[in-house]
Amino acid sequence: MFELAGAEVGELFAKEFELCALNSKENVVVLAESASRPDYVAAAFGAAQRHGAAVATVTLPAGSPVPLPSVRTGTGYGLVSLDSNRPVLDLLKAADFVMDLTMEGFIHAPVMSEILSAGTRILYACEPPEILARNMSTPDDKREAQAAVRRIADASTMTVTSAAGTHLTADLTDSHPGYQCGFTDDPGRWDHWPSKMVLCWPDNEHVSGKLVLEPNDIIFPFKSYVESAVELTIEAGRIVSIHGGREASMLEGFFADSADPDARFTSHMGWGLQKSADWWSMAMYDKESVMGMDGRCAAGNFLISTGPHPFKDRHTPYHLDIPLRGCSVSLDGVPVTVDGKLAGADAS
Ligand SMILES: [Fe+2]
Repeated sequence: MFELAGAEVGELFAKEFELCALNSKENVVVLAESASRPDYVAAAFGAAQRHGAAVATVTLPAGSPVPLPSVRTGTGYGLVSLDSNRPVLDLLKAADFVMDLTMEGFIHAPVMSEILSAGTRILYACEPPEILARNMSTPDDKREAQAAVRRIADASTMTVTSAAGTHLTADLTDSHPGYQCGFTDDPGRWDHWPSKMVLCWPDNEHVSGKLVLEPNDIIFPFKSYVESAVELTIEAGRIVSIHGGREASMLEGFFADSADPDARFTSHMGWGLQKSADWWSMAMYDKESVMGMDGRCAAGNFLISTGPHPFKDRHTPYHLDIPLRGCSVSLDGVPVTVDGKLAGADAS
């Protein structure tokens, strides 16, 4: 039996590390937990060596904190076992590059900013290999995502509309625009492979309107396509009413059961730039094997989320990411997406 799958995954990681500008003077830590994909750990280890870097693997005990499950959700705190393991934390801070192959990553974990502040760059990956391969980035992706960030930074207001009835406005003053581009080649920067999206964190006080989810929009971390329309009314960044079918009662139940008033506030919002993303791929995988980056960063989507807001010191774990397919997003009246398709500079 040939280990061809392993060889192909090795090539993918080698190519990805090239994008990350990994070089022979750098120290790499491949971070795993006991449930991580062993082929990814081997591939990352081998790819780091191919680039001449000094490499070590670290495997931490698995397990996620309550109250939410934490397996490729995009919401969790990541491994709690890192929080109490100072030697490993110090190792990650001393490394130039961390390949994070844990099940959840540290997207919303306070510990991540401590590692990044030390200058370490972190790349997180957890999608199946064919999704990584299909959405492999190019250096242009970073430039284009940064250009989209500048468009948000230069604008005062984001307006989102749709034929289904969405009409939402967000004041962009101090909205901290950012991006993901699928690789990281700058010290102290985190990114997610695969990804290409732009987002910002408007102040809740200035987000208001109506958000209408249509059938086949997606709700994360449930990883489910909407079946019947949901209408959410948002006032001063807080969801004050939810109407619709099954998903409406699901969302209402989620917010009510959280017993966390912060869960109902808006969080980050932006739009997807990944043209190779496949909106429907999630229908072909079991829920635990994907995080759903295809839907989260699909070109032309409008992604809005709820719960945490680091710039308002709000750290609730009750975080929903909701990409919508049929919205038109404009910045100070200039469209960046029209009916779910990229417009303007991003369209070409
Ligand atoms: Fe999110």
